[in-house]
Amino acid sequence: MVRAEINKVTEMVQTSVLFESRNVVKLVVGMSVLTLLLFVVYQAPINPLYLVPRASRGVSGFSSVARNVTDARETKLQKVLDCAAMDDKTVILTTLNEAWAKPGSMLDLFLESFRIGNKTQRLLRHLVIVALDQKAYDRCLDVHAHCLVLTTEGVDFSEEAYFMTPDYLKMMWRRIDFLRTVLEMGFNFIFTDADIMWFRNPTLRFYPDTDFQIACDHFNGNSYDANNMPNGGFNYVKSNNRTVEFYKFWYNSRTTYPRLHDQDVLNRIKKSSFIRKLGLTIRFLDTAYFGGLCEPSRDLNVVCTMHANCCYGLDSKLQDLGIMLEDWRKFMALTPELKLSKHASWRVPHNCR
Ligand SMILES: *[C@@H]1O[C@H](CO)[C@@H](O)[C@H](O)[C@H]1NC(C)=O
Ligand SMILES: *[C@@H]1O[C@H](CO)[C@@H](O)[C@H](O)[C@H]1NC(C)=O
Ligand SMILES: *[C@@H]1O[C@H](CO)[C@@H](O)[C@H](O)[C@H]1NC(C)=O
Repeated sequence: MVRAEINKVTEMVQTSVLFESRNVVKLVVGMSVLTLLLFVVYQAPINPLYLVPRASRGVSGFSSVARNVTDARETKLQKVLDCAAMDDKTVILTTLNEAWAKPGSMLDLFLESFRIGNKTQRLLRHLVIVALDQKAYDRCLDVHAHCLVLTTEGVDFSEEAYFMTPDYLKMMWRRIDFLRTVLEMGFNFIFTDADIMWFRNPTLRFYPDTDFQIACDHFNGNSYDANNMPNGGFNYVKSNNRTVEFYKFWYNSRTTYPRLHDQDVLNRIKKSSFIRKLGLTIRFLDTAYFGGLCEPSRDLNVVCTMHANCCYGLDSKLQDLGIMLEDWRKFMALTPELKLSKHASWRVPHNCR
């Protein structure tokens, strides 16, 4: 009995010694690691040579790769823009995601409008489609000559980007930043949303000597009046120092007005003293030529473009744009007399609003 007790106690002691020794090992290891860490941490600032050469090699290696990727992108951008530009270095730009690029979706209607419009087919040579995801880019390559891809790390733009969601806002701002780059490269552009149907060449209706001209949801009759309600889906911008600075200012204003759409931010900044001091000339395009579902261009004899604005959801847009294209085809099939008789008009908005 006593023997057993002694054995048990011995066992306990042995176990506890073993246990203790394991802890000691842990403690020693821990201390060593800590010492090593302290050594590294304190050595670094004291002896910069210890870490800096490795770090700088890493950084310069990384930035040279990054620079090469950037170079490659810029070369590609330059090539595509050079290839698509008109004689006066103007390009037509639109952006697309997968949902809009799918067969039977927005891209098909958009391209169709150029084909059935009056002398608009030739403008397709100057159109650059900027895909916001890989699938949209692939589809672009299938159907069009000038395609670019513009991706943003950590954001998937491929789904239908619902109005005013964080991804939608990111997509809009990415676009403004991209357009600034195009201006910096010396290209003028006509930016058009892909839900805008082109029926006539808009350049014939643009204002002369204007830096920035933009379509409107509602036009009040005075093209100089900043109280007009611009729509960011269609604008014509000349490349110069004023417009580059303006696009930087517009882009940077997103932080002043978080959660606002680029168009709403434009409305906040359009009368700002910054723009006045910059000397940027802004004019607003008449909805008689650049109409939309908000305010349709009533006369089919003069309409240039029609936008599926004031319309939410891809399906509703597609339905109304389909009707619009049909109306246009019917109009083009009329005799010259009937065209002028003004009986022809749009049946839209139909599904929208
Ligand atoms: C970057 O491109 C240059 C030539 O343009 C090349 O010499 C260099 O090796 C490239 N660097 C990397 C990291 O790819
Ligand atoms: C198409 O454009 C030409 C030249 O601009 C013009 O003469 C013709 O009347 C136009 N047709 C229609 C239907 O507007
Ligand atoms: C922009 O400004 C710079 C320097 O102020 C000038 O060299 C350049 O020619 C200007 N560019 C344009 C397009 O006006």
